[in-house]
Amino acid sequence: MRRPSTSETQVIIAPSLLAADFGFFQRETERVARSDAEWLHLDIMDGHFVPNLSFGPDVVEALRPRSSLFFDVHLMCSKPDILLQPFAIAGADAITIHVELGRRVEDLIWQIRSLKKNVGLAVNPPTSIDDVQPYLDKIDLLLIMTVNPGFGGQSFIEETLPKIQQAYRWKQEQGLSFRIQVDGGINQRTGGLCAQEGADTFVSGSHLFRQRNMKFAVRALRKACSEASSYGTHMQGVSGDIQDSLL
Ligand code: DX5
Ligand code: ZN
Repeated sequence: MRRPSTSETQVIIAPSLLAADFGFFQRETERVARSDAEWLHLDIMDGHFVPNLSFGPDVVEALRPRSSLFFDVHLMCSKPDILLQPFAIAGADAITIHVELGRRVEDLIWQIRSLKKNVGLAVNPPTSIDDVQPYLDKIDLLLIMTVNPGFGGQSFIEETLPKIQQAYRWKQEQGLSFRIQVDGGINQRTGGLCAQEGADTFVSGSHLFRQRNMKFAVRALRKACSEASSYGTHMQGVSGDIQDSLL
């Protein structure tokens, strides 16, 4: 199983296919593959958990041969249990479910793990960050939503920043290695704000796809996030040696 680690790449950029031209998914995937992005973020919406529909495992399967990008599948679905295996077979590398599913979360995490995929857990803006705490030692990726899920192109919600700070604190205190991902309204400015609080993985849809030169845009976003991370508030109190080893 491919487990993402912070030493592997300090900052990961994950363009979201939701912002692509839906008539040209294969071409858009190849465009991401040619950029400097490491991951492709795939938003799966069921019209029930969120008020929108996107695409399913057949689309992911069709895109899989087009790149070696890490496929980061974000399930915004009320019944993810029926979708885990189809997405695993279609080529997902990580599958993220939402903590708002409540008592089913533990079992879903176990199912994703048994499919030998990286496990992600997402939390919506109105949901307390405390809800994810019991699962932190069981996941590879914590997705802190920075907009209410359902649509691309929304404005970043600044009130989510303290959740990133809290997640980073727990991660350090408990010596855990899950990545801290942010999703929604991410651009160089907002990505920098999140990086300052400890985010290391940045989903970006409309900001990246609207650029003519995605490679340049990905590099600029990574630079902004890396620099903000190095000087971030979460680094205060961390000794120079440790800071150096993280850069
Ligand atoms: C929102 C999705 C996001 C979305 C981000 O429900 O989970 O991944 O595509 O798009 P932007 O970057 O446009 O907010
Ligand atoms: Zn998403």
